[in-house]
Amino acid sequence: MPSPLSGSSVILGVTGSIACYKAADLASKLTQEGAHVDVILTQGASNFITPLTFRSLTHRPVVGDLFDPQSELAVEHVALAQRADIIIVAPATAHVLAKLAHGMADDALTATILASSAPLAVAPAMDGHMYTNPATQENLSKLRERGVTIIGPAEGYLASGLRGIGRLVEVPQIVESLCAILGRRGDLAGKSVVVSAGGTAEPIDPVRVITNRSSGKMGYAVAQAARDRGARVTMVTAPTSLPDPVGVETVHVGTALEMRDAIFRACEDGDVLIMAAAVADYRPVSVAEQKIKKGGERWSIELIKNPDILAEAPGRVLKVGFAAESQDLLENARTKLVAKGVALMVANDITAPDSGFAVDTNKVYLVDRERGVEELPLLSKYEVGHRILDRVVELLSASALS
Ligand code: PMT
Repeated sequence: MPSPLSGSSVILGVTGSIACYKAADLASKLTQEGAHVDVILTQGASNFITPLTFRSLTHRPVVGDLFDPQSELAVEHVALAQRADIIIVAPATAHVLAKLAHGMADDALTATILASSAPLAVAPAMDGHMYTNPATQENLSKLRERGVTIIGPAEGYLASGLRGIGRLVEVPQIVESLCAILGRRGDLAGKSVVVSAGGTAEPIDPVRVITNRSSGKMGYAVAQAARDRGARVTMVTAPTSLPDPVGVETVHVGTALEMRDAIFRACEDGDVLIMAAAVADYRPVSVAEQKIKKGGERWSIELIKNPDILAEAPGRVLKVGFAAESQDLLENARTKLVAKGVALMVANDITAPDSGFAVDTNKVYLVDRERGVEELPLLSKYEVGHRILDRVVELLSASALS
């Protein structure tokens, strides 16, 4: 299943802020995701950036002046409004937020938004004082109450040279927010999915840990795919260098014991548990309070077994495990399927090229009791996430029928 943006009709409203340059990147990323992007530029925005930039990136006409007789789309802005699946205004100035809050329609963008019933998201960008001004805050509250999604703003360097709140959020965050909105009515709507990610870090002393090569990419991709199908997602992650996915409740943990506690808590109202994390099987028996000094030629650390989170997780959640193997892949996956009492095991061939730890793609086999083994081609981790979730949806509806 592709991203919810693929094939969708997106209106990108661009208003007059220096952050307009990021809107060009946004138009490009949305187009790359397979969306049909119709850009509407306000008069203010066209002082910063030209229609040609967007036309070149989206391969579609750009709407500017509502009353331009040469512009086919301007005349048809109501049709445009009605065929939109989603509208995003990025950057959104204080002025356009005020107009939207008051239902004004004096240009192509605000008239189109007023004529549309598509979900609306705005990504504010402005000077910090303009943002914190009670007038702007009141306008944002009004929009929020009406169901408009407010994305950001972020804190940091502002065009005024000052630091503060008011920066347009980064483009990937906007793209993810749109996926989350578009996915709301997906086949996992109303379901609560718990995902684990990353490699746990078991401390030896204040400096050293026992960990593994998991980057978290697989677990994060499963969480994003579940979110994009409408699930309420809680992700429990061991340390990674990845940003928290938008629209996913992310719980950061270090050790296997911390991961177990967070997962069991999340499972209390969960429907599905997907364990993509590489959990350390053992941890040091004791953790030194001070850094251990270098000594003789050899050093042994006594280890004790960690709990098996997947096996011990409450049986009422549908459990999906991963088995990362370097040999006897399917045999080991089948053994773990039974031993851990899971409905589906994702056998992960970590010896295949571009598969396993730290890469963006994965080569897996889906192993279950009913259907045996399904081999998947090398796919992006996000697509692997969707193929797992296709099975989860089937298993959930089968268990609802039985
Ligand atoms: O994070 P990436 O860099 O993207 O890499 C992805 C991955 C290779 C880590 C991922 O695709 C993967 O295969 N994860 C499982 C890693 C693993 O080693 O699993 P395992 O065979 O040790 O354990 C089997 C299952 O039991 C797993 O679902 C694991 O999360 C779970 N487990 C293991 C030990 C333990 N104490 N508790 C557990 O719940």
